[in-house]
Amino acid sequence: MTAVDEADLRSRVARLSLEQKVRLLTGADFWALFPEPDAGLRRVVTSDGPAGVRGETWDERDTSANVPSPTALAATWDCDRVEAVGRLLAGEARRKGVDVLLAPTVNLHRTPFGGRHFECFSEDPLLTARIGVAYVRGLQESGVAATVKHFICNDSETERMSVDVRVDERTLRELYLAPFEAIVLQAGAWAAMASYNQVNGSTMTESPLLRAILHDEWGYDGLVMSDWTATRATEPAARAALDLAMPGPAERFGPWGDALVEAVRAGHVDEALIDDKVLRILRLASRVGGLDDIGPASGGLGPAAAGGQASSVVPPGASRVPVAPPAVDIPAELRATAAASFVLARNEGSVLPLDRASLGLVAVIGPNAEMARTLGGGSATVFPPYTVSPLDGLRAAGLDVAFAPGTLGHLRTGAARAPWLLRPDGSGPGAEVRFFSPSGELVGSEQRDAAVFRWMNGFEAVGAPGEIARLEISCVIRATEAGVYQLGVSGLGQFRLLADGAVVFDETLVMREDADVAETLMAPPQRLASLDLAAGQSVAVRLEHDVRSSPMAGFGTFLQLNLEVPHGSDDEEMDAAVSLAAASDVAVVVVGTTAEVESEGFDRVSLALPGRQDELVRRVAAANPRTVVVVNSGAPVLMPWAGDVAAVLLTWFGGQEFGNALADVLLGDAEPGGRLPTTWPVSEEGLPSSQPSDGVLRYTEGLFIGYRGYDRDGREPLFPFGHGHGYTSWSYESITVPPDASGVCVCMTVRNTGTRPGREVVQVYASRPDSSVERPAKWLAGFAAVDADPGETVNVGILLPERVFQHWAEGGWALEAGTFTVSAGSSSASLPLTAEVTVK
Ligand code: BGC
Repeated sequence: MTAVDEADLRSRVARLSLEQKVRLLTGADFWALFPEPDAGLRRVVTSDGPAGVRGETWDERDTSANVPSPTALAATWDCDRVEAVGRLLAGEARRKGVDVLLAPTVNLHRTPFGGRHFECFSEDPLLTARIGVAYVRGLQESGVAATVKHFICNDSETERMSVDVRVDERTLRELYLAPFEAIVLQAGAWAAMASYNQVNGSTMTESPLLRAILHDEWGYDGLVMSDWTATRATEPAARAALDLAMPGPAERFGPWGDALVEAVRAGHVDEALIDDKVLRILRLASRVGGLDDIGPASGGLGPAAAGGQASSVVPPGASRVPVAPPAVDIPAELRATAAASFVLARNEGSVLPLDRASLGLVAVIGPNAEMARTLGGGSATVFPPYTVSPLDGLRAAGLDVAFAPGTLGHLRTGAARAPWLLRPDGSGPGAEVRFFSPSGELVGSEQRDAAVFRWMNGFEAVGAPGEIARLEISCVIRATEAGVYQLGVSGLGQFRLLADGAVVFDETLVMREDADVAETLMAPPQRLASLDLAAGQSVAVRLEHDVRSSPMAGFGTFLQLNLEVPHGSDDEEMDAAVSLAAASDVAVVVVGTTAEVESEGFDRVSLALPGRQDELVRRVAAANPRTVVVVNSGAPVLMPWAGDVAAVLLTWFGGQEFGNALADVLLGDAEPGGRLPTTWPVSEEGLPSSQPSDGVLRYTEGLFIGYRGYDRDGREPLFPFGHGHGYTSWSYESITVPPDASGVCVCMTVRNTGTRPGREVVQVYASRPDSSVERPAKWLAGFAAVDADPGETVNVGILLPERVFQHWAEGGWALEAGTFTVSAGSSSASLPLTAEVTVK
């Protein structure tokens, strides 16, 4: 940034009164910043992130491209691909009027129990950093800001609003801060988010770490916003390097607004700190094209002096006006990315890829086969335009497919949907919502296509102005077959459900008191009632809700009409699935979790697959030796049957094109490109806990998370970090580390020894035998993907950054001079090549 650009920004700050400046420091509403015409600042809009760009509304009318979950992106180990995903997301942001994406999440996979594990990239700081840098570059090169979050140590969810994470300085530096550091210094992130929790006794929105590390050490010139409602105290947060309290307005969420103006007037907070915060807001706005030309100001250098251009303040490397991201074939890109993220963890007897020419009946079994689980829960959820389930994908590939669910994998009843859910006027699937004022007047209505309802910014945006006291949701439920239907609602507060005019229930639903706000909003209590319906019977349903009876009304109104359709008993369903498997050429069993198991707001208490899915896999595998298990979870689950099935394919939450990508990989039209970005445990033993004790969560394992912990303890994982098969085989032939003035470059030769073209992720790990410093046995030092045809030999050079050999000691980065070992191979547990490198 040039001096003139800085001067322009400063002159804009100088035009504003204290009240105007402080007003900018809290959001205008749930997602947007305040506009300020006197500073040429337009309304700047934020949105979650990271699995798609939600936009300002959160329902089926405003759909978003749903990319594979962040762990899946990391599993590609492919920075170019992730950068392209960043560009795709930038295009989505621009389409939806979003300037600032609340992503990426670069907290670490400290423990698989962490509820937002699916939303983070990896257990390894270097892989997280590389993938995060690529994601941020892709977004920001198209003029959309990234928000690297959550700074810092929000690695699990239990008591996340208050928990005090105690972590030693070296662990903080070498693990948890490392991705943020790389993203700030290498990708120049334009925004960061301070987390809810405390670290070493200090609430992060007030923490001295914000200024000491971000500003003073890393020279960060971007903006720090709070996580939503994480700003708690007026003066401590204002004195810290927190620039923006979200959400707003201050009158509703606090704690700045008038209280901060008074604190400045009373001399408790220096106005220069306020100016710096406003400067950072304007800088962010300028970067995303949010500043207009306001003409020269007295005493400052106006835009005319800066060349007469609007948005004259630009970061190095970015263009003056945000570039439109290139047009992308979104389905094709999401399909290829999902396939590139799938990890083929086991492939006994090379059952995969399936040979289309000789393939007979394919049994598609399991709860997640029909219901595509494409994303995890919480603020990261978006409404995709469509989802391709595994069953859809395999059918679309033209295979001879038969389906049996086997068992129900969900813990809660899902939303009512087509073909059972119809609008009252029969005009299509969906429902009608009517909004009533406190005096009972009908003030608005809308026709909806689905039965999930979320209003966060009040009801104005949906055409219902003023205060809304009551909602009425009407629909028709039509039975496709005779049986018992479970109909009901999930939400908070008072609900009355009527079927054909008769009251089914009239009840107030309450949440457990210790539930996190995300869990309360996204997974509130459910109330269901049974309706015995004849085939073809239609019931007129009306749900009435007293909006003000919800304790979360000030935050938003979230509710859902639920419907479970008749099904056989679990035993009947399982028997049917096993018989189908026995009569089929191959059985594809899709097991997994749901957004209600893996979500923001709470941690998992068990890593086991929900329900009777383990039993289902065992019985199917016993009935058909060609059983391929597809695991549709965002994070590791226990797989006690892993050694008894022919193949295991880990597919994460695969985004909207999940099923098509699955068909591509199962049939060998695409390589299973993924390698594990996190260790897959064999059991729950020995894993770090996410449960605080007396409000304190101690990171007692220190540096030893993930594979570092397994190595130290001599424990065997189920599948090691970095593991994953392709459809060809490789030999690692040679390694050298030639002297190079510019750094350590590891040069290797690898050969495709199989019969198919393929892609290999070559991984390099460093270690330091006989170190005088406590260290992990090995740590990831670099990686690169190579493509080769059968028989082809490829040379690959991987440059190792200096930081790979450094450790944190006594307040700074230190280098223990001497000889390190570098090992290369296809996973952390398979490293056939070794060389030594002497570092001075
Ligand atoms: C989450 C953030 C998210 C924010 C806004 C918070 O609860 O922790 O990751 O960006 O909500 O939705």
